[in-house]
Amino acid sequence: MLDASASGISRAAQLLRQGDLVSFPTETVYGLGADARRGDAVAAIYAAKGRPSFNPLIAHVASVEAAKRHVIWNPWAETLARAFWPGPLTLVLPLAPGHGISELVTAGLDTLAVRVPAHPTAQKLLAALDGPVAAPSANPSGRISPTTAQHVMAGLAGRIAAVVADGACGVGVESTIVGLAGEAPVLLRPGGLAAEEIEAVLGQPLATRDLHDPLTAPGQLLSHYAPQERVRLNATSARAGECYLGFGHYSGARACDLSLSTRGDLVEAAANLFGHLHHLDAQGQPIAVAPIPETGLGAAINDRLRRAAAPRDEPSPTPSK
Ligand code: TXA
Ligand code: MG
Repeated sequence: MLDASASGISRAAQLLRQGDLVSFPTETVYGLGADARRGDAVAAIYAAKGRPSFNPLIAHVASVEAAKRHVIWNPWAETLARAFWPGPLTLVLPLAPGHGISELVTAGLDTLAVRVPAHPTAQKLLAALDGPVAAPSANPSGRISPTTAQHVMAGLAGRIAAVVADGACGVGVESTIVGLAGEAPVLLRPGGLAAEEIEAVLGQPLATRDLHDPLTAPGQLLSHYAPQERVRLNATSARAGECYLGFGHYSGARACDLSLSTRGDLVEAAANLFGHLHHLDAQGQPIAVAPIPETGLGAAINDRLRRAAAPRDEPSPTPSK
């Protein structure tokens, strides 16, 4: 583990420069970073996570100016970057000529997902490297995303060079992804910035895509963020043997029960989501989750919960004509 001191950051940048993997905090979740210009380093991300295929990754950059080295900018990008960067928003834009980004980051697409993270430690690391960092969430493929350095170590210790430890992530769910490479802005993944806020700034609604559409953030598998035990959604109370993850006035009373936000605050609930799932997962009991409103950050919370509850890794039935 490294700390977020000047020497910790400079060591982390040195490791990235030599092609090693370094986990670092962002305001959303901890990322598993590699120098986005080095194919060998980016390939190591897939190996460390056990990702089944080469899904495109987000390139983290220090500033709008840095982003423009890699993507073709447009007026929507300008509007959204001015309003929300640095912050939990990722923009998908056409790759610029001479972009310098490894093909393993884009998985061969002609677009790149870019984001300027707000976390001061992420900012310092990007400044120290002076280059783009490709980073998915720092968890083994399909497991719950990490919001603390301890979560990262629990999942990836021994497979990465270092983690820069700097407390818990404030937002707690991954960035919102907006596609800006087509005819209209598209919400590709709900996340830590509410779609309503983006629409207000754009002055138009975001187009949406179905979860199963392969064009919707192509790396997103339906079963994802999965605890070991079964997850049951929209539960107004727990059944025997379940631990309850409450929200607002829905709460449980047993030792293993937790609440995302007793006061029904969706921002607080997002910040608590993955930490509470990690904690409940460690109890080894099935989890029942309270209904969460679909507004604001509730859209991202419900998206992650639906994935946590989705059937997983079950061999598909043999077709029986
Ligand atoms: O908050 C976050 O976004 C975190 C932190 C570390 O920044 N990162 C993160 O990365 O969530 P990851 O790899 O777990 O999710 C990246 C998503 C994937 O669903 C992928 O399909 C989508 O971004 N994506 C990446 N490049 C894309 C592209 N060119 N077009 C469409 N979707 C893309
Ligand atoms: Mg992830």
